[in-house]
Amino acid sequence: MTVYLNGQFMPITEARIPVLDRGFIFGDGVYEVIPVYSRRPFRLLDHLKRLQHSLDGIRLQNPHSDAEWAQLIQELVTRNEAEDQYLYLHITRGVAKRDHAFPKNAVPTIFMMSNPLLTPPAALLASGVSAVSAVDNRWLRCDIKAIALLPNVLLRQIAVDAGAAETILIRDDSFMTEGAASNIFVVKNGVLLAPPKNHLMLPGITYDVVLEIAQAAGIPQEVRKIAASEVFNADELLLTSSTKEVLAITTLDGKAVDNGKPGKMFMQLHQLYQDYKRDVMRKT
Ligand code: PDD
Repeated sequence: MTVYLNGQFMPITEARIPVLDRGFIFGDGVYEVIPVYSRRPFRLLDHLKRLQHSLDGIRLQNPHSDAEWAQLIQELVTRNEAEDQYLYLHITRGVAKRDHAFPKNAVPTIFMMSNPLLTPPAALLASGVSAVSAVDNRWLRCDIKAIALLPNVLLRQIAVDAGAAETILIRDDSFMTEGAASNIFVVKNGVLLAPPKNHLMLPGITYDVVLEIAQAAGIPQEVRKIAASEVFNADELLLTSSTKEVLAITTLDGKAVDNGKPGKMFMQLHQLYQDYKRDVMRKT
C-alpha cells in the first residue's frame, strides 16, 4: 500500500512518525474518511468543507487549498490498486516538546492512506445489523472530526462485546445523537426522522446525501430532536456512513425492530443511494 506522509508518497512500511507528534501524545488532530468509487472521490468538496470546519474547530490552519488536496488525493488514488477505495486523511498539530499549549512553530503532520473499499455485502443488506444503545458520554464538540476517538472506541466496543454492529448513543437520558461511528435515522409512520446537525453529532456526508435523495423522491422527512423513546419504538432504524452507505438496523438491545427485517424505507433509500452514486460518478 502506498501512503502519503508530509509531501512524499511511500510504501506504508516506510512511513514513520516521531513519538513527540501531538497526534500521538495528545490526539491533537483531525481526520476525514472519503469514499472513492471507480477511482473518483465521492462528494470531495463536502469532505474538504467538513475538514475545514474541523480544522477551524481546533484552531489549526489548513495546510492546503481544496485544489491542492484534490490533486494529492487523486495522486494517492492512482498509486493504489483498488477501483473503489476508502481514503483516510489525517492532520495533526505536528511535532513539539510535550506541552498542552499550542507549539509556536510546529509544522502540521499530514498523513493519507487508501484501502480497498468494501461496501456491505448483499447478505448484510438483506439481514440488516444489530445495534445496542448506550449513554453518549462524549464531549460537546462532536461536530469536529477529531482523531481523539477514545470515547467512540469504547462505545463501539460495547456493541462488539454484545455481538452487535453499532452503538446508538443517547444523550442526557433523553434524545438520540448518532452512532459510535455512523449517523442514525428513525422511520415512523412513513416519515424519515433525522436529528439536527449541531455540536452533538458529526455532520455526516452520507447523512446529507440521504436527506437530499429522500427529498427528491418525495419521502416525508423531519429534521428535529429525536426522543430516545422514538428510537425504541421505531418502525425502522437506519445507519449511514461513508463506508457502510445505508444499512438497516433490525435488532436493538436484543429486541427486533418492528418485524426484525429491513423495511420499505430502507429498501427505497438503499436503491436511491446506489442510483445517485451511479449518476454522480457518470458526471464527474
Ligand atoms: N466515521 N458519526 C460518526 C461519529 C462517525 O465517525 C461517522 C463516520 C459518521 C458518518 O459520517 P460520514 O457519512 O461522513 O462518513 C457519523 C468514519 C467512516 C470513520 O471514522 O471511519
